[in-house]
Amino acid sequence: MYLHPEFEKLTRSEIEALQTERLKKTVRQCMNTEFYRRRFAESHIAPDDIRSLSDLGRIPFTTKQDLRDSYPFGMSAVPLSRVVRLHSSSGTTGTPTVILHTQRDLDEWANAVARCLYMVGLRPGDIFQNSSGYGMFTGGLGFQYGAERLGMLTVPAAAGNTKRQIKFITDFGTTALHAIPSYAGRLYEVMEEMGIDPRRDTHLRTLIIGAEPHSEEQRRRIEQMLGVKAYNSFGMSEMCGPGVAFECTEQNGLHIWEDYYIVEIVDPVTLEPVPEGEVGELVLTTINREAMPLLRYRTRDLTRILPGECPCGRHHLRLDRMKGRSDDMIILKGVNIFPIQIETVLMQFAELGNDYLITLTNEEANDLMTVEVELKAFSDDYHRLQALTKEITRQLKDEILITPVVRLVSKGSLPKQEGKAVRVRDLRKTLI
Ligand code: COA
Ligand code: AMP
Ligand code: ZN
Repeated sequence: MYLHPEFEKLTRSEIEALQTERLKKTVRQCMNTEFYRRRFAESHIAPDDIRSLSDLGRIPFTTKQDLRDSYPFGMSAVPLSRVVRLHSSSGTTGTPTVILHTQRDLDEWANAVARCLYMVGLRPGDIFQNSSGYGMFTGGLGFQYGAERLGMLTVPAAAGNTKRQIKFITDFGTTALHAIPSYAGRLYEVMEEMGIDPRRDTHLRTLIIGAEPHSEEQRRRIEQMLGVKAYNSFGMSEMCGPGVAFECTEQNGLHIWEDYYIVEIVDPVTLEPVPEGEVGELVLTTINREAMPLLRYRTRDLTRILPGECPCGRHHLRLDRMKGRSDDMIILKGVNIFPIQIETVLMQFAELGNDYLITLTNEEANDLMTVEVELKAFSDDYHRLQALTKEITRQLKDEILITPVVRLVSKGSLPKQEGKAVRVRDLRKTLI
């Protein structure tokens, strides 16, 4: 039964009892990995020391760097012969991170996504279209399997090709769409160009938006434009992908599924828990995963736990919409990018100096990254400069998966701040 109503309706004390039992099981499972065996030994703790939720704080944090250091299979808690899928995201130093799944993990992931979609009123009979990238992007297969599990006709339209995307919406009678918030604006713009009024000419009524920070104002504008109710969806590859936390029909905070995750909010500097209700870094422990359990994973996402009960009656905690990151990760077009990835590519070109500037804009519903980089020496060889720009663009696209606009500028022309180069300017409107 995919909906697990018995888990969705747990009371606080039932949630805590289940989490305690699952945490102990997870810690035992972690001892199958060399990584956690070493971590526990170094911290002088034994798996049996973790007896209650209050013992969680004794376990060291797990970081993205730990995942990179264990690349590719060092964190597998099951024999590789039981792993049926991996997802990988790009790293900051060329080493990606890898997340492994058993068949049970994939089933539970699909169940979680189905639960989210059911929560906002979707049912068999709905037609669900997914405009996420497929492949390694977890928003693709994550929503695909979740929507199928719920029994909806599911259209794997994938990213891009907006006119075709709109044709699918009108021809198939799509009622529910998953799109990242910035792409929802692009869809509306192209609908207008095609003379399509989403309220009159489509059956769209539910939009799932996530994968990048967005404001309440942005959500309301998208709802107005497309004539839909839009629900915030939060997830990350390290925790499977979508299905981690999701808004209910109250649209006031995202219920995080506590039968899958234990939530902590910590100060990103001291790493101590923040006072109740305050913003800090989200730390998650997986308690329903076989292949790659993660203990106290530092997500780097900043949020807070909303106080009080949700009128919908669910007791799973609610996260406030994400407030930003405690690292320098950029999210553009639903793709995660670290400035160091760009720097690493640029520094391989002998013709380029050390200073560069990344500018993010979203003119006319088109998200854009412009990379300006200083030349080491003046050149008026137009053909050479053109070829260089093309090659830098190609290599950047390979590394960061989106196409930036590259501009070569003369030495000393980029702005400096107190002697230190300014690396990223985010000029996107209505971000958070
Ligand atoms: N989702 C869907 N389509 C998108 C998109 C997004 N986040 N961002 C851009 N697009 C569309 C563009 O509108 C364009 O189509 P159109 O010209 O028919 O309108 C097409 O994709 C190419 O975009 P462009 O900006 O020219 O290319 P790029 O090389 O910079 O980016 C993408 C390439 C779009 C393939 C890449 O950004 C991507 O895969 N994004 C989706 C990531 C994702 O799914 N994240 C969710 C994780 S849960
Ligand atoms: P990925 O691992 O590629 O799925 O990216 C995960 C990251 O995307 C998260 O750690 C967040 O920074 C961001 N993200 C995902 N969903 C949301 C959301 N609903 N709101 C804001 N940021 C989000
Ligand atoms: Zn609720």
